[in-house]
Amino acid sequence: MAVLMAASLVLFLVHILLSESERLPAPPKDAIYRNPAYSDEERTEDLLAYMTLAEKVGQMALIEKQSVDDMEDVASYGLGGILSGAGAKPTENTPAGWRDMVMSFDSASRASRLGIPVLYGVDANHGHGNVPGAVIFPHAIGLGASGDVDLIESIGVATSEALRATGVRWNFSPTLDLPKDIRWGRVYETFSDDPARTGPLASAYVRGLQGAGRTGVLATIKHYVGVGAMQWGSSKSDIYTLDQGTTPVSEAALRTQYLPPFEDVLAAGAQSVMVGLGSWGETKLSASSYLIRDVLKGELGFKGFVVSDWYGVYEIQGGDYAAATTAINAGVDMVMLPFEYRPFIRNVSWAVERGDIPQSRIDDAVRRILRAKFALGLFDETPVAGDLELVGSEGHRALAREAVAKSLVLLKDDADTLPLSADQFIRVAGSAADNTGRQAGGWTIEWQGVDGNVVPGATSILAGIREVASERSVIEFDAAGNFSNTEIADVGIVVVGETPYAEGWGDTAEPQLSAEDLATITRMQQRAERVVVVLVAGRPLILPASWRSWDALVVAWLPGSEGAGVADVLTGRKPFTGTLPLPWPRTTTQLPIDPVSGTANGTAPLFPRYFGLK
Ligand code: BGC
Repeated sequence: MAVLMAASLVLFLVHILLSESERLPAPPKDAIYRNPAYSDEERTEDLLAYMTLAEKVGQMALIEKQSVDDMEDVASYGLGGILSGAGAKPTENTPAGWRDMVMSFDSASRASRLGIPVLYGVDANHGHGNVPGAVIFPHAIGLGASGDVDLIESIGVATSEALRATGVRWNFSPTLDLPKDIRWGRVYETFSDDPARTGPLASAYVRGLQGAGRTGVLATIKHYVGVGAMQWGSSKSDIYTLDQGTTPVSEAALRTQYLPPFEDVLAAGAQSVMVGLGSWGETKLSASSYLIRDVLKGELGFKGFVVSDWYGVYEIQGGDYAAATTAINAGVDMVMLPFEYRPFIRNVSWAVERGDIPQSRIDDAVRRILRAKFALGLFDETPVAGDLELVGSEGHRALAREAVAKSLVLLKDDADTLPLSADQFIRVAGSAADNTGRQAGGWTIEWQGVDGNVVPGATSILAGIREVASERSVIEFDAAGNFSNTEIADVGIVVVGETPYAEGWGDTAEPQLSAEDLATITRMQQRAERVVVVLVAGRPLILPASWRSWDALVVAWLPGSEGAGVADVLTGRKPFTGTLPLPWPRTTTQLPIDPVSGTANGTAPLFPRYFGLK
């Protein structure tokens, strides 16, 4: 009974709060916040002064687009952010369909009393990967292997162009996590396990993405902090083992290894930070006032806004009210709910009324969010910039192809098997040879990626080899390596690796090649003089003893849509320049590998970090 009474009181209060904002008149047309002649600071303070509590709390809500029950809610609740969770697409899943969808949320938000534009966010972590036809760049691990700051800045620019063409001005990327354990399903989203490499590369990406002035896309650095060092089996999820788990490292290790990339990229101007879904020791990251308020906003002087990760706030114990209150008091500014916004707005408004969240904390959160929106120019211009033709443009394809070539790492090359020479009889096989979905990996079209030759506009590695190899070469292909012709080819290229996955779905006790892939390699060894194995994988894989019989071994990571970039290097048009961005373990008993103290069992990895033949 008491619960029912409390609930009705809350509903009543919220009704009052919401109808209060509906009753209030719109601020004058010449209000300071509407005038670009004033500074972002002045405009923010002016707007804040017009806002009711409910309007402020609405700005703190980030909702998955499918969870918006009624388009009018965007204005009546003054929602701050909308996101497309990975794979959440418009009805017409084309670049134009994307732009129309984003613009419909944008227009809906501008219809509110205050006309505050919504911020639309996506995970464009290897290009605008949700959108069919967009160019898919190599996943971060491949870019980490390239170590090429200028290349990565250009990829940031290209990604920003594709996003802006569809009106998206917020990207939940780049990842600064540092992986210690290849059994984790998010290794490929990271640049390296080396903070000294991660900071500069991620900074370059942020510079490219955000651009100068008001023209860019807001970057998000994630996942704050200590993510990648989780202990095996510590995940709170029933399905995962490492992802969303506990980072057991000391504060000293957190500060010397995990914090520096954040410091670097904040200096490069990142304006939003996402807190991780895991825990540091006993504390959920989104509940850590120490890490968010004291360290990030205090010591590091971060002036942008902190966003929580998918449903992360509600993983804090104590029920929805307590969870939201704890996270906001800990310094979370925008909450990726990402579902029900009504109870959130109710609970947080109620918490302020009751004094459980200080008004000053709400003002601080909203100030940070509004400042970012002003800085992006969202109040003054449409979020769309540039032509839709930029999505999947030739320029982006050429850049991605260059990135692929620079990301390849050569681990073995006996008797100069590579590069291929001009008039060879070449056989190609393997599960990933003619499979653009596998090349692209997770976060492509769907959250878990797609399997098959189904990425629109993409070139498979096989197609790339056919395109690039000399006209005098003969190329024969069979995915399983079953060649009826008993003649022995000069070279056999076997492209094998992982099937796509994302997040904890990729956690696995044994990251290795399948029996089927190994059988294909063995078959090829009977049909070719020399065998080159090309790995398409999001992480180092534990190699079978038979790898020593392979003549050459190339790691292509998850190269994305431009398979011809792999062919460019195999054929010698471009040199091998990439190096391993993390150590390659010999066995899983070596895991985790700590950048300072080394492998878990004290033995040397198969290949050290930064190994790569030239
Ligand atoms: C991931 C984030 C991502 C978010 C939004 C979460 O599951 O952990 O990295 O940005 O979803 O899609």
